[in-house]
Amino acid sequence: MGYTYRELGLSNTREMFAKANREGYAVPAFNFNNMEMALAIVEACAEMGSPVILQCSAGAIKYMGYDVAPLMAKAAVDRARNMGSDIPVALHLDHGADLETVKKCIAAGFSSVMIDASHYDYEENIKVTKEVVEYAHKNAGEYVSVEAELGVLAGIEDDVHAEEHKYTNPEEVIDFVGRTGVDSLAIAIGTSHGAHKFKPGEDPKLRLDVLDAVAEKLGSFPIVLHGSSAVPKKYVDMIKEFGGEMKDAIGIPDSELRGATKSTVAKINVDTDGRLAFTAGVRQVLGTNPKEFDPRKYLGAGQKEMKEYYKTKVQDVFGSEGAYVKGTK
Ligand code: G3H
Ligand code: 13P
Ligand code: ZN
Repeated sequence: MGYTYRELGLSNTREMFAKANREGYAVPAFNFNNMEMALAIVEACAEMGSPVILQCSAGAIKYMGYDVAPLMAKAAVDRARNMGSDIPVALHLDHGADLETVKKCIAAGFSSVMIDASHYDYEENIKVTKEVVEYAHKNAGEYVSVEAELGVLAGIEDDVHAEEHKYTNPEEVIDFVGRTGVDSLAIAIGTSHGAHKFKPGEDPKLRLDVLDAVAEKLGSFPIVLHGSSAVPKKYVDMIKEFGGEMKDAIGIPDSELRGATKSTVAKINVDTDGRLAFTAGVRQVLGTNPKEFDPRKYLGAGQKEMKEYYKTKVQDVFGSEGAYVKGTK
C-alpha cells in the first residue's frame, strides 16, 4: 500500500507552473536514483528558494522500488522544511509508458506523471494521453497533474530510440491540448537525451522558432523541455582525469536555454548533468585516494558536487532563484 501525495508533503505542478509562467522562470525537474541525489537536489533548491520537481524514470523506480521512491521524496520535503524553506516539491513519473504504470505511481504517492505516447501516431497519442488524464484528474483521489509529449526527440528515451528529431508541429498543439486535457506539454525543438546531443563540429542550436510558434498558439499554457543538460566540460574533464571514458560529449549551451525560460517554458528536465557531476565527485575521491572504501566519503563527494552544480544551474539557467523563501545552508 502506498500514500497520497499530500500525506508525503508533496504538491502537484499546477500552481508551480502558473507562478513560473507569471513570473518568467522555469521549474527545475531533476532526476534522482538514490538518497544522495534526492538530497543534493532538494538542498540546492531549498538554499536557492526554487520550486523543484523530483523525477523518476521507469529505470529509477525499478532501482529504488515503488515503496522507497516516494519516501525519498518525503525525506527531501522534510529536509527542505528543516532548512526553513517553503519550496513546493513534486514527485513526477518521467516518461511513463502506459496507464498501468501511471496507476502504480499514483497509488505509491506520485503527485505528477508524464504519459509519453509520442512514438505513436497523432490520434493514438491523443487516445492514450486522454485516458491517463481522465484517471489522474478524477479517479486518483487527489488531482495528479499530467504531462504529455508531442513530437519526438532524437536519441534514446528509455526503450524507444529515434534516429532523428521530429519537431513538434505548432499547428497541432491547440487540438492536442484541448482534446486531451493535459496540464503541460513537452515539445521537440532539437534537445535530446544523454551526453551526446550533437556531433563534433555541429552547431548546438535549438529550434527556438518552433518554441515561439507553439507558445504563441498556446498562450500561457506550460511548455516542457526534455533533454536539456549542458554536459559541462568541467565534469567531462574530471571524469576523464580520474579514469573514466567520455568521447564527444556535447550538451545544450546554457545561453540557448536561458532565453527559453523567459517564455512559457515552465519545466526543464535535467538528468545527465547531475549524473556527470555526481560521477566526477565520486571518481575524484576514489582516483586520489585508492585506499578509500568508505561509501560515505565517495558518495558524499558526489552529492556535494551535484548540489553545488545545481545551485549554479538554478541561478544561471532556470531563473527560479528566490521564487520562495530561501532555506539556510
Ligand atoms: O529521460 C531519460 C532520463 O534521463 C532517464 O534515464 O532511463 O536511464 O533512468 P534512465
Ligand atoms: P538530459 O539527458 O539532457 O539530462 O535529459 C533528461 C530528461 O529529459 C529526462 O526526462
Ligand atoms: Zn526526457
